[in-house]
Amino acid sequence: MDPAGAATIGILGGLGWMGDMLAHSLLTARLIDPRSLTLCSRRNSASRTVSLWPGVVYTPDAVELVNRSDVIVLSVRPQQFGSILMAAHDKLVISVMAGVSVEAIRLQTGAQRIVRAMPNAAAQIARSFTPWFSTPAVTAAERIFVQKLFETCGTADAVSTERDIDYLSGLTGSGPAFPALLADALMSHARARGLPADIARKAVDSLICGGGRLMEDVSVSPGEILQKFMGYEGTTAAALRKMIAHGFIAAVHAGLDAAEARSLEMSVNGKEV
Ligand SMILES: NC(=O)c1ccc[n+]([C@@H]2O[C@H](COP(=O)([O-])OP(=O)(O)OC[C@H]3O[C@@H](n4cnc5c(N)ncnc54)[C@H](OP(=O)(O)O)[C@@H]3O)[C@@H](O)[C@H]2O)c1
Repeated sequence: MDPAGAATIGILGGLGWMGDMLAHSLLTARLIDPRSLTLCSRRNSASRTVSLWPGVVYTPDAVELVNRSDVIVLSVRPQQFGSILMAAHDKLVISVMAGVSVEAIRLQTGAQRIVRAMPNAAAQIARSFTPWFSTPAVTAAERIFVQKLFETCGTADAVSTERDIDYLSGLTGSGPAFPALLADALMSHARARGLPADIARKAVDSLICGGGRLMEDVSVSPGEILQKFMGYEGTTAAALRKMIAHGFIAAVHAGLDAAEARSLEMSVNGKEV
């Protein structure tokens, strides 16, 4: 494969939420010509990508998708994958499915060159972090291509073990869920104190979204930010100390342990939450 991206790509589940988003991102980034992209779903033939990009091929037939493509992206739900049989021995197969192991993909597709990646919902605004793991058979040129593919929807990094993907599925794969949990807790407190819903929402949005933007400065670590606010010994320090004393960090760690355990369980059972 040409690392610059000259490949034909087929996305199984390409009209679903994640598949459509990936298709749109790699077309917008001009990583691929629309005529080199095939999207497959069984029922739907209408999607944003198909309507916006003339030339993109739609097929309801997974065999046609495989025949037309050098690279197959698996973007069906994990429980849907169990019923799909495809012969993709000579293809690069890239899965974004949560909790479906490399071994399960190899057994079901016959592929040896397999990538497991875990984008998150922020891909919709080109802000996903997508970790990916590849089997040893994936070539150096293909690894460059995979990195470019996922950089079309944010940042990406290769990780060295498949276990890292299972762990990160629980961490970054959760998309906006953890910030939403914090925002919801802040909102319910503000509402209980009698603040109108719109004021509480604006206050919390500024904190979560504005604070997130400020944290993009990678020269300062989250720990350093905490130390700085502790140093003022003001309202924020009082809140932080109380939250930590009430088990905030332990609760986050326990949650991430549970997410990893669930991801590994799904890998074994092939079932999504
Ligand atoms: N959503 C997220 O934030 C997120 C994050 C990371 C990873 N993922 C992973 O992305 C994958 C897709 O998730 P999603 O949220 O995009 O689900 P989705 O919207 O339900 O998309 C799945 C698509 O697969 C198609 N499909 C199912 N069986 C098929 C078959 N046999 N042949 C061809 N197409 C088939 C479905 O269309 P038809 O029913 O018409 O066939 C549907 O459009 C999942 O494995 C998930 O774990 C999602």
